[in-house]
Amino acid sequence: MFTIGLIASGKGSNIRAILENIRQGELDVKASVILSDNPHSKALKIAEEEGIKHYCIPEEKYKTTLSVKTEREYVRILKEYNVDLVCFAGFMRIIKKEMLNNFFGRIVNIHPSLLPAFPGVDAWKQALNYGVKFAGCTTHFVETDIDAGPIILQAVVPVLEDDTYDTLHKRIQEKEHIIYPLTIKLIAEGKVNLSGRRVSITC
Ligand code: GAR
Repeated sequence: MFTIGLIASGKGSNIRAILENIRQGELDVKASVILSDNPHSKALKIAEEEGIKHYCIPEEKYKTTLSVKTEREYVRILKEYNVDLVCFAGFMRIIKKEMLNNFFGRIVNIHPSLLPAFPGVDAWKQALNYGVKFAGCTTHFVETDIDAGPIILQAVVPVLEDDTYDTLHKRIQEKEHIIYPLTIKLIAEGKVNLSGRRVSITC
């Protein structure tokens, strides 16, 4: 069976949505392991509740990246669980060649903006502050540059005049919870084709 490994730093709502899609039979994959760099991440609690193997791999040396040793530990565990696809779900670390080389073309991410607009942290805040009328979210393959790999799916939401950071992020996340499970489903079914930077979906 197609196997995914999930990595998160925060509250884990995308992981919850993915697991819910699996439970409902919408997504025919196995979530074999959940990893986090943050001992307080709700993702670990969700994994515990769901009986999914989980590990916290804290990084003491760096705040936004990983030491080679730590990154090797992620790779070791993902390989131990025979992961076909690595899914970053709010994993707030920049990865380098250890993970990229070992899972080349097999790492995906969700980002809360219509990339290439607003890469980096708190993208919904960047969007609101910039004054855009539409925001959204993007799933993409992970490559060396941050939030810059080939785009798989995007979903658009309007920005309302009375939006706050929280209301806009909530609206974006509702779409994330749809397009991320769908992205994984399409990849697992072999329907996502990559040609250079362009991704096409076979129906
Ligand atoms: C999501 O909005 C995700 O798009 C974002 O972190 C949030 C995690 O939410 N990721 C990034 O900003 C990556 N650059 P969650 O913990 O509730 O799934």
